[in-house]
Amino acid sequence: MKKIGVLTGGGDAPGLNAVIRAVVKTAIRSYDCEVVGFRDGFDGFLNPEGEMPLRREEVRGILPRGGTILGTANRGNPFAREVIRDGKRVIEDTSDEVVAAIEKENLDALIVIGGDGTLKISQELFEKGVPVIGVPKTIDNDVNGTEVTFGFDTALCTATEAIDKLHTTAESHHRVMVLELMGRDAGFISLHAGVAGGADVILIPEIPFHYKAVVGKIMRRVENGRHFSILAVSEGAKPLEGKQVFSRAGNEVYVPRLGGIGYQVGQYIEENTEQETRVTVLGHIQRGGSPTPFDRWLATRYGAAATRLAAKGGFGRMVALQYGEVVDIPLEEALATPKRVNINGDAVRTARDLGICFGDEK
Ligand code: F6P
Repeated sequence: MKKIGVLTGGGDAPGLNAVIRAVVKTAIRSYDCEVVGFRDGFDGFLNPEGEMPLRREEVRGILPRGGTILGTANRGNPFAREVIRDGKRVIEDTSDEVVAAIEKENLDALIVIGGDGTLKISQELFEKGVPVIGVPKTIDNDVNGTEVTFGFDTALCTATEAIDKLHTTAESHHRVMVLELMGRDAGFISLHAGVAGGADVILIPEIPFHYKAVVGKIMRRVENGRHFSILAVSEGAKPLEGKQVFSRAGNEVYVPRLGGIGYQVGQYIEENTEQETRVTVLGHIQRGGSPTPFDRWLATRYGAAATRLAAKGGFGRMVALQYGEVVDIPLEEALATPKRVNINGDAVRTARDLGICFGDEK
């Protein structure tokens, strides 16, 4: 192995730099191999300034830094890229151009760090002959085949801290506090942070809710002398007889942007109870900041394992955490079905045992 490439794609997540650092250190120390980074995801292959040498100097001190030194893009799909042709914006399949640019680089492997969207692109590029290796990243934790993606733990800590902070002000003012959290179509952040922060109601996309059940829970608390309530609401949660709420529609380039369900839930509560209600949307704060020790540890193990996999020629595969060990699985297997909260699993059961309402009770 003489030269490997690395890029980060999709939304950023704390721990990306820890993966990059581990790849560079492992490649240089164990394989005497050169590493080059590509800026802003797959766009790095089409941009004349898209390449960045990654030596020890470039990765020094980046372990605790959030974000990615390589930059990223979540509109950089080579199979559906927005380009200007004859002064007009058009969507084109530029994958052949990207594959040709990758071939020109003479890479022995390309390590792609990304979530489901980026990993899907990686699988398609692998099918076109690119020697791809995947590393699963996302705060949403919605990639299958791995127990956890790095970035999730940091987002979870941020979300839990927000619930803790809302608790004190909710209690002082006798208010209902609604916290809208990220996660797209997976409810892991809300479920885990909701349980860890002692929320009274958790609404997740996997369990459609009745507004009446939510209000019932709040009113039962009031009757028991608990004049405040905390709700952890996933951005993808939806009422049983309603739809997910989007703040922006999608197209061939952008996925639709979820957002707004927290305000709808807050408004319903205020209109149907005597309880004063406030809504907080935590937003991109969940994606930022220094990775937790767990995320640094996992990201470092993923980076080193991905480099060892590259040396073995394990292309079209992804590193994954299973039963506490880092293993590798076919990308295709990871992408076959998206990971969602198991609504019959022990985590949801535990929350119910503790009296947390998911809004599905009659
Ligand atoms: O997939 C990660 C994520 O943060 C989701 O939880 C959220 O819906 C989305 O990305 C936000 O994307 P953007 O950065 O494009 O607003």
